[in-house]
Amino acid sequence: MTTKQGRFIVFEGIDGAGTTTQARALVSWLGTRGIKAVYTGEPSEGPIGSMLRNALRGRVVPGTVPGVLDPRVIALLFAADRVDHVLYDIRPSLERGLWVICDRFVCSSLAYQGLDLEEAWLASLNREAGHPDLTIFLRMDPAVAMERMGRTRARLDHFEALDKLQRVEANYRRLEAQGAMGKDVVGLDGLLPIPELEKAIQDAVGALLER
Ligand code: TYD
Repeated sequence: MTTKQGRFIVFEGIDGAGTTTQARALVSWLGTRGIKAVYTGEPSEGPIGSMLRNALRGRVVPGTVPGVLDPRVIALLFAADRVDHVLYDIRPSLERGLWVICDRFVCSSLAYQGLDLEEAWLASLNREAGHPDLTIFLRMDPAVAMERMGRTRARLDHFEALDKLQRVEANYRRLEAQGAMGKDVVGLDGLLPIPELEKAIQDAVGALLER
């Protein structure tokens, strides 16, 4: 007997857009429909994902020269983490018939690392990653996202962080407008009241249930 392959659904959006909340809500909703779904995300829980988390938090390895990692190194680590995540987690789950709901994937690298690096290079690094059955992009107002994350501390910090989020959001919107987020993409207004947003996501995912 062959188990039917699961579906691969990705959530994308800036920090504070609500991707984690909505991805988890979708896992629960699918459960109520009798579909076994698992939550995962990137950076992953695997060895390279853990290294990345430490690097992003500025935790350096004892004995090495302190300092931030070069954006190219970060981009390579995200791409390496993605290959590892697909091979050892996402693909095996899909093959077991599970639906995989993933918080961030290739578009995060294009939107975030795209601030510093050429998009064609980033796209080529991620060429082997595979394609989600559906990408849900939550459009978000960066100022609201910052408020949601409670980042109103130091003024300079605030403006730097807001500026970065604005540029990442602009990248996401450009990718969406260019059709560069993949074949099956649904862009939704992340400012919708939560029940409405959940309903819109369920409607988008509903189409996959029939396939
Ligand atoms: P995030 O989803 O916030 O993870 P966690 O909640 O576990 O800290 O991701 C961490 C940050 O990494 C976030 O600011 C987006 C960034 N990121 C990239 O810059 N490129 C990528 O390819 C991915 C997956 C994430």
